[in-house]
Amino acid sequence: MSAVTTAAPGAPVVDLDLAELRRDPYPAYAELRRTAPLAWVPSVGRHLLTRYEDIVHAEKLPEVFSSREEGSLLLRTVGPNLLREDDPEHRRLRAAAEPPTRPRQVRDLWAGAFERNAHDLLDRIAGHGEADLVRDFAEPLAAANLALVLGLRNASADDIAAWSRAMMDGNSNYADDPDLWLRAEHATRAIDEAVAEMAEAVRREPDGSVISSMVHAADPVELSEIQNNVKVIIGGGVNEPRDVFGVGAWALLRRPEMLNRVLAEPVLWKRVFEETARWISPIGMYPRQLTQDYEIAGVALPAGSRVALVIASGNRDESVFERADEFDVDRPHRPHLAFGGGPHFCMGAWVARHEVSALAWPLVFGRLKGLRLVDSAEDHLEGWVFRGLTSLNVTWQASD
Ligand code: HEM
Repeated sequence: MSAVTTAAPGAPVVDLDLAELRRDPYPAYAELRRTAPLAWVPSVGRHLLTRYEDIVHAEKLPEVFSSREEGSLLLRTVGPNLLREDDPEHRRLRAAAEPPTRPRQVRDLWAGAFERNAHDLLDRIAGHGEADLVRDFAEPLAAANLALVLGLRNASADDIAAWSRAMMDGNSNYADDPDLWLRAEHATRAIDEAVAEMAEAVRREPDGSVISSMVHAADPVELSEIQNNVKVIIGGGVNEPRDVFGVGAWALLRRPEMLNRVLAEPVLWKRVFEETARWISPIGMYPRQLTQDYEIAGVALPAGSRVALVIASGNRDESVFERADEFDVDRPHRPHLAFGGGPHFCMGAWVARHEVSALAWPLVFGRLKGLRLVDSAEDHLEGWVFRGLTSLNVTWQASD
């Protein structure tokens, strides 16, 4: 089914300015939920689906809302991968890649090394008394942890972070900038080489990593498939934990009473994580393509229609979350959409939860005494497909 890249007949057309969406998408989403819960947005080239219930409904019908969107930039940078496949192909790749990211494996295989990585980074900055916690701590931590889980012992955290940035830039290269394509190509070639080397090594000596799990999968996986899937994981496994760390730390630094409660009752870190991911979702939306005619949110969409599931909007839907724009760790539990849903539910959810809520936040707030914001940080919040703080400048008493 080829992609239909225009509005469905009868779909409301709403012009949204991309610069404004990048600055703050939430007012536009609130208006869409109220007046046009499925709307064609020309600047995005897709129908945006913005209400919680409609997004959940679409996630339950992967055979209608296919992940195989044609012409996506992700396919151009990475090649075919599990995120843009449907079952049964998706299931085969997911079954091969997933075991090292399950809760038990996270606890038994990775938690100790994650903790050492966090302490090493804090050792480097603790004596300075000031830092950008996004650049100097959260990003290198997410990259170092990801290198471990993937099994890329031959790559440094700096390599992983740089590759991740280059591929993210390629995936959003709507302007077709040749320099960005070139940088993305350099990164993907370097990843291909690193994966080929480690695949060879773990063939002889399995090490529990994602590469090892794919090499030894019961249902065989080709080297090129391992390479592409490692690329997609590097493209998406660094910025989201980094962003949830930055936004959650910022939210607490601006709410000292809440912070004191969390410090006194560490079990609350888990709630801080889920509420942060709901409040400012690191991934704001992702694409689907219709395999057949289908009516949703009052609009009859023809087969081939392109739809974006705007989970950042669903997570602010007032019909599900009261005072949805507020950050509130005490809100009644309702499942948020930040990790997606259905067969593509985030494979790294347990890795991210552990590295951020069990380790990164407690260690940072425990070791850096008197942590304070240097500026309001609000100006550093940007993005709508991916949203987070580009920096979090803080000071503390440098006595560690
Ligand atoms: C707070 C952190 C994270 C958030 C909010 C997040 C969010 C998401 C979302 C929304 C999806 C679904 C996309 C879609 O259906 O098109 C997804 C899929 C995925 N995520 Fe994450 N992610 C996070 C961390 C991670 C990490 C650390 C890893 C790697 C260890 C990872 C690996 C993946 C993979 C491989 C998929 C594709 C799963 C599939 O297609 O079956 N994620 N993530």
